[in-house]
Amino acid sequence: MNHRLDGLHPYPFERLNALLSDITPASNYPFIPLSLGEPKHPAPDFLMDIYADREFLKAGVGNYPPTKGSPEIRQAIATFVNRRFKLTQAPINAETQVLPVTGTREALFAFAQAVIDSDGSGGAPLTLMPNPFYQIYEGAAILAGSKPCYLECLQENNFQPDFDSIDDTTWQQCSLIYICSPGNPTGSVMPIDVMQKLIHLSDKFDFVIASDECYSEIYRDESNPPPGLLQACDEMGRDNYKNCVAFNSLSKRSNLPGLRSGYVVGDESIISRFLLYRTYHGSAMSSHHQALSAAAWLDEEHVIENRILYRQKFDAVADILSDSWPMDIPAAGFYFWPKTPCDDLQFTRKLLQHTNIKVLPGSYLSRVVNDQNPGQDRIRMALVATTDECVEAAQRIKTFIDQKQYL
Ligand SMILES: Cc1ncc(COP(=O)(O)O)c(C=O)c1O
Repeated sequence: MNHRLDGLHPYPFERLNALLSDITPASNYPFIPLSLGEPKHPAPDFLMDIYADREFLKAGVGNYPPTKGSPEIRQAIATFVNRRFKLTQAPINAETQVLPVTGTREALFAFAQAVIDSDGSGGAPLTLMPNPFYQIYEGAAILAGSKPCYLECLQENNFQPDFDSIDDTTWQQCSLIYICSPGNPTGSVMPIDVMQKLIHLSDKFDFVIASDECYSEIYRDESNPPPGLLQACDEMGRDNYKNCVAFNSLSKRSNLPGLRSGYVVGDESIISRFLLYRTYHGSAMSSHHQALSAAAWLDEEHVIENRILYRQKFDAVADILSDSWPMDIPAAGFYFWPKTPCDDLQFTRKLLQHTNIKVLPGSYLSRVVNDQNPGQDRIRMALVATTDECVEAAQRIKTFIDQKQYL
């Protein structure tokens, strides 16, 4: 077996199940899961209507779908990306700069396998990533034969990595960096000038930037959508996206986590090599899902409605907890990332025991660097359930905090 498999860490949810295995949850309350980032708002009706059409389902099952994607899905993605990220200098070319992928998880993982050259001279290259993070970055880096390098995202830096604190040797050894904006779990948005600083560093040290933007369409301020990496390039007046690749998905934007549909866009030469990799990897999206995805990327109405629902939920929950456990509403994404009044593992256990609510301890989403775990004494709460359920959860949590049941 591949010895690198031994380097993989258990997934946070596996650790969570072990942590809670001996807890008997409060039986007087129905269970509310706030641990998993799986959207629960309904999928758009107009897409489900297409799905329900038998003729639509019959068409396409007799052919292998193209790995590169149909012209329709590539054009729909390019249209979305160009409009959403205001790409005017060098609009994305649907033929050469777009690939549909079966969710960002799969693509973020596969990307490292295609990009990292672990046989090069100079030892294992580095893959930089935020800390806390989406654990796929780490597993992808390890299996590709590189060494993960964790960049602390602390509150004092608005939960963003501090690129100025990284020395030249680290940048020289870096072959890939993952950034995540809006961030999971912090909901923090990377400012465009910070992205541009990173792009200058990539010019200087020649590494690839993989920008995970899968929460880009869930944000508070309707007039101020989070910027994307390609937008940062465009505003620098560039006519290409050298070393820059952005990932996004319909899972959060359109409440379609089960469709497994996303995209990769950016640097033409990287996209063409990644397509070569994917041809062998065998991860083409089914023709039905390509057609549905094209329709989803071209519609904004359902996405606006989705944002309204999240804003209502954040307001309602923050309001209920305001006196007992005030928490900052993040600029984007659908997670609260509050500090806990005690150790995060203890908090998580006691919360399930007293309220039958499951959350994820922050320390399970981060690695210890310099004796510090940036997720310690925080929890991640995903506001994915219905408004009624989230309100019910907030009321139970308020009592839990007021009565210090976490002790
Ligand atoms: C930061 C981040 N990236 C990527 C993904 C993967 O999403 P999907 O594969 O559904 O596109 C998730 C899922 O929760 C995530 O939180």
